[in-house]
Amino acid sequence: MRFTTLLAASLGWILAGTVHAQGTAAPAGGNAPGAPAHGGAHAGAAPAAVGKAVAVLHATEGNKVEGTITFTKAGTGVKLSGKITGLTPGKHGFHVHEFGDCSAPDGTSAGGHFNPTGEPHAAPTESARHTGDLGNVEADASGAATIDYTDTRATFEGTNSILGRGLIVHAKADDLKTQPTGDAGGRVACGVIGVAK
Ligand code: CU
Ligand code: ZN
Repeated sequence: MRFTTLLAASLGWILAGTVHAQGTAAPAGGNAPGAPAHGGAHAGAAPAAVGKAVAVLHATEGNKVEGTITFTKAGTGVKLSGKITGLTPGKHGFHVHEFGDCSAPDGTSAGGHFNPTGEPHAAPTESARHTGDLGNVEADASGAATIDYTDTRATFEGTNSILGRGLIVHAKADDLKTQPTGDAGGRVACGVIGVAK
């Protein structure tokens, strides 16, 4: 038993040493002398797959809209659930925008609709659309909207990954056809889609 443990430990050292040796023996064009080594025994370790994300929506200047939306992996897409409050009753455009940057008081720092595939603005049910096109949320008479929706295109990895992007709620309804914004008006809330536990 003890011998086995020692053998395993020794093998581990030998293997680690081998990987490290290969890492440092990189051909010209690799790390410059003195630069931090990013290879070594950690080379090739895949990061854990993301299964959940969250966006906390904060009101833009002059608004009172707030909410928390969670995103969970659902088949090949992502399920959104949560609640948004402080809205005017009725429909409000709801999109993933290109940048996870809510620093501008009016939310414009989040950029346009997240559209990595260069397609037109459309309803989330259309096959040709912005990846960020989530359609509308609908607030009741109290100004609250409940979100329980599964998007088939958004993912947590690759081209359509929504991680680190912005989540925007608009003042008006998205008409699902006007290019490139859906004529949804100003931005009443902004959040950043971040990795969650
Ligand atoms: Cu938008
Ligand atoms: Zn769009």
